[in-house]
Amino acid sequence: MPSSLQTVTFSSRLDLLEAAVRARSRLVPRLGLVLGSGLGDIADAVYDATAIHFDELPGWPAASAPGHAGRILLGQLEGVPVACLQGRLHLYEGHHPRTVVEPVLLMGRLGARTIVLTNASGGVNERFAPGTLMAIADHLNLTGHSPLIGPNDDASGQRFPDLVGAWSPSLRDQLHRAAIEEGVRLEEGIYAGLVGPAYETPAEVRMLRILGADAVGMSTVMEAIAARWAGLELCGVSLITNAGAGITGDALTHEEVLAAANEAGPELARVLRRFVARLDG
Ligand code: HPA
Repeated sequence: MPSSLQTVTFSSRLDLLEAAVRARSRLVPRLGLVLGSGLGDIADAVYDATAIHFDELPGWPAASAPGHAGRILLGQLEGVPVACLQGRLHLYEGHHPRTVVEPVLLMGRLGARTIVLTNASGGVNERFAPGTLMAIADHLNLTGHSPLIGPNDDASGQRFPDLVGAWSPSLRDQLHRAAIEEGVRLEEGIYAGLVGPAYETPAEVRMLRILGADAVGMSTVMEAIAARWAGLELCGVSLITNAGAGITGDALTHEEVLAAANEAGPELARVLRRFVARLDG
């Protein structure tokens, strides 16, 4: 992204990105799916896919976070045309909030009406042990950032977007139905998004609990705000990969996060496949 952000609108960036994708694929996705750390496996179920690496698109960096393939797949999942982001861009990588949300806005520009965000997160709610899946009911944006700061691009969304019901209750119901059909336990809770990249202190996890958070992570909230601004329907699932800092007294490591995501990832993949298969059904 050029440094003169004030003059570069989302629309002009999306024009460029859309043209670059359209040179490779004509697929019009119904749904956009963002796969978080270690959760890229569901991408194996996407068929007839065109894969485009992030750094093949104008102004996008290669994904640097471990566990993130850093590509967008355009293909079919359960007979539904989808755009699937295998990895994402994070604030902690040094990306501008606007760059972080371009992938989600691009999926909308390509035709997606619904966005599903997934992430690996720490459990703040002590009932949520590692391996727990949590449908996101709402979020706390504690990053200190917003992707919407700067002149508003009226062609894409309103200056003051409403976030009541941002995490669609009806899509959440559909996630719960899919989970029941797959025999997978799906909890529900509030996701707190922090900037990272350091994991939280134990005191911060206690604070997050008082604030009403059930899970904490370093992604998702920028994308959620941008998706709603652009009028896209939104739902999401957190996979709790570890107890929040200080709960067990053990140190947190990214390897532990990836291992837990890999272990519980297949359950999440089953829920999402069922959800997609039932969409519009
Ligand atoms: N904190 C923040 N982000 C995370 C965590 C955590 O404990 N686990 C996975 N992502």
